[in-house]
Amino acid sequence: MAFDAPHIRRQFPFFTANDALVWLDSAATAQKPETVLRAMDDFYRTTNANVHRGMYEVAERATAAYEGARDTVKKFMNARHSDEIIFTKSTTESLNLVAKSWGIAHLKKGDVIVLSILEHHSVIVPWLQMKEEAGITIEWIDCDDEGRLIMNDLKKALAGKNVKLVAVSGQSNVLGVRPPVTEIIRLAHQSGALVCIDAAQLIAHHPVDVTALDCDFLAFSGHKLYGPTGIGVLYAKREIMQTMPPFLGGGSMIEEVRRDGFTPADPPHRFEAGTPPIAEAAGLTAAIDWLAQFPWKDIEEHEKNLMRAAFETLNDIEGLHILGPKNPDDASACVSFVLKDLHPHDLADILGQEGFCLRAGHHCAEPLHKRFSVPASLRLSVGIYTTEEEIRRLGPALKKAQKILAK
Ligand code: ALA
Repeated sequence: MAFDAPHIRRQFPFFTANDALVWLDSAATAQKPETVLRAMDDFYRTTNANVHRGMYEVAERATAAYEGARDTVKKFMNARHSDEIIFTKSTTESLNLVAKSWGIAHLKKGDVIVLSILEHHSVIVPWLQMKEEAGITIEWIDCDDEGRLIMNDLKKALAGKNVKLVAVSGQSNVLGVRPPVTEIIRLAHQSGALVCIDAAQLIAHHPVDVTALDCDFLAFSGHKLYGPTGIGVLYAKREIMQTMPPFLGGGSMIEEVRRDGFTPADPPHRFEAGTPPIAEAAGLTAAIDWLAQFPWKDIEEHEKNLMRAAFETLNDIEGLHILGPKNPDDASACVSFVLKDLHPHDLADILGQEGFCLRAGHHCAEPLHKRFSVPASLRLSVGIYTTEEEIRRLGPALKKAQKILAK
C-alpha cells in the first residue's frame, strides 16, 4: 500500500485547525499527532507530580513515566544503557552541555575542535565560547558546491594530532545533505578524537543507531520528532559521561551538599538539575511510539518523492537557484533556495499571506550561507504528513510572488 500522507495528516489537530495553511517548515518544528497531545494532557490530568522526590504513589507513577521515557529513547536510538540518555530542554542545551561539561573537563589551550561548515549555530557557538574561555583552536571542514564535505580537510586536521573532538551534523538544516558520519567517526576514532553528532534534523527522517554508529555524543530535540518542545536528548557513552562534571547546579543533581562543597549524583541525573521536562517526556514517549508504526523505508521513500517534486517545482522557476545538491536524492527533507534580485524575507512574507509557511533567513547557519555567498535563503522542508500536492502548489505561488515583487 502506498504511504498515505493525507490519512496520516488527519491525525494532526493542527491541520484541522489550519486547513488553509501549507506547512513547509517542519525543519523548524514538526506538528504533533493527537496521541502526543493526549499523552501530555493525560499526564497533567492524572499523574502530575514531581519526579525523584515524592514518596507517595502518584509521584512514583510520575517518576516511572519519566524514567520510562528514558528507556523508550534508549531503545529508539539503540543505546546500550538507559543511563546514557540525558534529558535537556533542547538540542541546543544538549550541545552546550558537551562543550561546557566535557569541554571544560578535558580541553586545554591549543587543543583542536573540528567543525563542518554545514553546522547550525548551536554547534558552532558553544565551541567559539570555549575558544574564548579556554584558548582552544577551531578547524573547519569545508564543503563543495553541492554541500559534500571535503574529507581531505578532516584528514588534514586529524593529521595535526591535537584534535580532541569532531562535531558534525547528521543532516544539514539548510541543504538537507547527510555527511558521511560513519566514515567521519572511523577517521576521528583512529586519531583518538571523539565525535559529536547533531541529529536535530536527521532524527525524524532516518533511523539512528548510536551503537552501530559508535558516536560518542548525539543530540536531538523532541519537537522535530513530532513530539513536544521543551525536551531534548543528549546521548553520551557511559564511560565518557562518567568523566564529565555537572553542567547546571541545583536540586536532583547531587548526592550530598555540605557547607563547603557538594558531591554530584551519578549520571545521568548529575546533568538534570531542577525539575525536568516531565510532561514533555510523556509526550516524547508518545511521539516515538506513534512513529514506530511506520517502517522507516516507507517514510524515507515518501520524503524522497517529496524532495523530487520540490526540485522539479523549484527548477521550473526562472531565476531560482537551489543551494547545494543538484540531485534531489541528496537533499533529505529540506531544500534552500534564492531568487534572483529578491529578498527571501519579502518572498516568505508574500507566500505567508497566501498560506505557505516557509522559513527565510540564514536558518542559524551563517557560515554556511557565507560559504554560498548569500546572506539568506528561503527554505522548504517536509515531514511525514506533507503531500506532493502541497509542494506542487508552491510553484504558482512563487511565480505570483515574483511578479508582485518585480513591480
Ligand atoms: N534549527 C531549526 C531550524 O533549522 C530551528 O529551523
